[in-house]
Amino acid sequence: QAQETSRLKDQFLAIASHELRTPLTSILLRTEVMRRAKSPTPEMVAGNLLAIERAAKIQARLVDDLLETSRLLTGKLTLAQDSFNPASLVQDAFDTLLPAAEAKGIKLTLRQSTTKLHYVGDSMRMQQVFWNLVGNAIKFTEALGKIEIRSEEKDGQFIFRVKDSGRGLSSAEIKALFEPFYQAPSGRSGSNSGLGLGLSIARAIVDLHGGKVAASSKGILHGSTFTVHLPAAEAMAQHA
Ligand SMILES: Nc1ncnc2c1ncn2[C@@H]1O[C@H](COP(=O)(O)OP(=O)(O)OP(=O)(O)O)[C@@H](O)[C@H]1O
Ligand SMILES: [Mg+2]
Repeated sequence: QAQETSRLKDQFLAIASHELRTPLTSILLRTEVMRRAKSPTPEMVAGNLLAIERAAKIQARLVDDLLETSRLLTGKLTLAQDSFNPASLVQDAFDTLLPAAEAKGIKLTLRQSTTKLHYVGDSMRMQQVFWNLVGNAIKFTEALGKIEIRSEEKDGQFIFRVKDSGRGLSSAEIKALFEPFYQAPSGRSGSNSGLGLGLSIARAIVDLHGGKVAASSKGILHGSTFTVHLPAAEAMAQHA
């Protein structure tokens, strides 16, 4: 356990410094270009500001994910206790990510049944879970692919499923994928951005809500399915 923690710490530092450097370099470069320009045109200023904003947003997300992971690894994460409707969190994730899917020519669909039960927990973090899973589906599905999101309520649980027609998963990958910093070997990953933290964060958050996340695939190139089971407050009360 101690060895595993120190390995994670080393990896943490190596990856964090490398990945954080890239957007930072771009921000510094663009800033300098603008500062040195003798007579900057509005177009040039706007273009540089847009690039700076993009790089800063990427960096903010990386920092957030790293902080979240460090809180999870040290057991210092505390969950909010809101009452929320998971179906509306899924709807929000869908609405937010639809443009990214459309930009890749991916057909993203959503089908949900109405929920009757009550859910209590950290709605912002659960929102992030759905967001991460749908975001991955978009990232790892080729242009013109297909992604179906579905949810239903069954046996006291909210069941969420995102099924993509993307590059699929080997059984070895399915075992490794929820580990912090895991990313498929390059070559298979294509233009893989990110730190490999999304799924480990998602799993930890769902666990803390008494639920489960799982991955399945019919094999490489045959798409992937990610499922979340989230118990309703009623079901949690029965177990308590
Ligand atoms: N829908 C999917 N299809 C195929 N492979 C996937 C899918 N989702 C995740 N993976 C694999 O699991 C790895 C880990 O996913 P995870 O979300 O943790 O990291 P990431 O998306 O690479 O980076 P981050 O989420 O930190 O931005 C991915 O790099 C990819 O190899
Ligand atoms: Mg991800």
